[in-house]
Amino acid sequence: MSTRPIIVAVDGPAGSGKSSICRKVCAVLDWHYLNTGSLYRGVAVVAQELGFKLTSEADLVTAAKFYAKEANRQDDGRKLIFRDKDLTHHLTTSLTDKASSKIAGIGLIREILLPIQRDMAHACRKKGVLLDGRDIGTVVFPDAECKIFLTANLAERAKRRMLQIKSSQTVDAQGLDEVMLDLEQRDLQDGSRGIAPLKKAVDAIELDTTHLSESETVQAMLDIIRSHTKD
Ligand code: DC
Repeated sequence: MSTRPIIVAVDGPAGSGKSSICRKVCAVLDWHYLNTGSLYRGVAVVAQELGFKLTSEADLVTAAKFYAKEANRQDDGRKLIFRDKDLTHHLTTSLTDKASSKIAGIGLIREILLPIQRDMAHACRKKGVLLDGRDIGTVVFPDAECKIFLTANLAERAKRRMLQIKSSQTVDAQGLDEVMLDLEQRDLQDGSRGIAPLKKAVDAIELDTTHLSESETVQAMLDIIRSHTKD
C-alpha cells in the first residue's frame, strides 16, 4: 500500500525506542529518517575532539559552529566524520549523553541546529520524512501533518538503552542502575529547560510502548501514519 508522503514528527524521552522504531517505519514506507538527537550528540563529540570545556557555554557554541560547517553525518546520523576523522564511537558514550543534554539547553546552539534540521527535512520531503527528537512537533515542525509522542516507563527504557549500548560501537560500559539514573537525569534536564523542552504537542498522539514489542510498535506507528495520509 503506498502512503502519501508527509512530514511526521516523533518526540519522546530518551530510550523510548524512537530511533530504532522510526528507522524500521521508514524502511517499510521507503521514507527518509532524520534522527535530530544525532546533531546535539555531534556537537558534544566535536567539543570533546577539539579539547573544549564541556562546562563552558562559549566553547560549546563554538563547537556547534564547527559542527555545522565541517561535520559529515552519515548513515542516518549513526556515523560522524569530522575533519576526516571517524568519531562514530564517541556518539553514544555516557559523557556524550550528558553533554548533549546540556548542549540542548543552550539557545544559541538550538538556533544553529534548527535551520539544519528544517533544510534536511525539506530536501527530502517529497519522498516522505520522519524526524525524531524532543521538540519536533512543538518547534521544528509545529505544522507537521502527523505527530506522535512515544513513551515507555523508566525501567523499560533503561533496559532498551542497555541493549543499544551493547550493540553500538560505544567506548564505555555502564550498568543498568547507572543507565537508569542517567536517563532520569536527562528526562529532568530535557523536560525542564526553558527553551524547547521535551513536551507532547497538544495535537500529538501518545503511544506508550512499555508493553509493546518492537514489531507491535512499528505496526502501531504505521497505522497512525496511514490514518493521516488518507486522501
Ligand atoms: O535522542 P537523543 O538521546 O540522541 O538526544 C540527545 C540529546 O539531545 C537529548 O538529551 C535531548 C537533545 N535533543 C533535543 O533537545 N532536541 C531534539 N530535537 C533532539 C535531541
